[in-house]
Amino acid sequence: MKLNLIKRIALGLALLYLPAQAMAWGTNGHRICGQIADSYLTPKARKAIQAILGNESIAITSNWADFIKSDPKYGYLYNWHFINLEKEMTNSELQEHLKNDTTADAYTKINYLVAELKKKTTSKADRLLALRMVIHIVEDIHQPMHTGHFADKGGNDIKLTWFNNPTNLHSIWDSQLIDFQQLSYTEYVAWINHTTLAQRNEWQKAPLSQWILESNHLAAKIYAGVKDGDKVNVYRYNFDYIGTLNEQLVKGGVRLAGLLNQIFG
Ligand code: ADE
Ligand code: ZN
Ligand code: ZN
Repeated sequence: MKLNLIKRIALGLALLYLPAQAMAWGTNGHRICGQIADSYLTPKARKAIQAILGNESIAITSNWADFIKSDPKYGYLYNWHFINLEKEMTNSELQEHLKNDTTADAYTKINYLVAELKKKTTSKADRLLALRMVIHIVEDIHQPMHTGHFADKGGNDIKLTWFNNPTNLHSIWDSQLIDFQQLSYTEYVAWINHTTLAQRNEWQKAPLSQWILESNHLAAKIYAGVKDGDKVNVYRYNFDYIGTLNEQLVKGGVRLAGLLNQIFG
């Protein structure tokens, strides 16, 4: 009985030291992007979105697409979160690739979901799913490793150590770098959400293909920065990359707002 209690305490302590399970752009990355998008909606778009989401904010609904991954009913949505590109691409190479792209990926599915949301005949249930998914995927493609290589699953197979905890390159960009800032998502947004109208206009007018191209170019730099098995110098890594990561969070939010304003305008 006594040993049992000691074992239980030991197990409890051991669990405390396990690294937090990674989600895609982690829970806070999605909330940060979603909250930034919310700050740039037109009144008309805000009203239309509220009619679909009810009392759920864009920040909170942003995580739905990850939370349903454990339900086999939604297994068909798995490949919608990313687009695998095998190398660093020029704009014309990417245009050619996307023109012939018939797979289920972030590019084809964002286009599909936008069309679903614009169609008058889409049912209430389908409209809710389409809105939640398009919000999530626009955010995801601003995480550079969501435009990474198929062979290493966008960096998931590049194993790294982060403060003595096993992780991987994809997860560092989804979660660990953001969690390292130790800010709530609202504190994080207050920190980074500073843009000018000229900046927002420039980001929003770029087409979806350019959002993907920018992420793909960042992914190439990120791949070059580590090799499988590395122990990451966290302070140095943070110093080198947090500016890039924060700009991607802000761009993702600003572009999501632009897209939602256009859909519901
Ligand atoms: N998550 C799971 N598989 C992935 C892949 N191939 N690319 C990017 N993200 C992923
Ligand atoms: Zn995702
Ligand atoms: Zn991810």
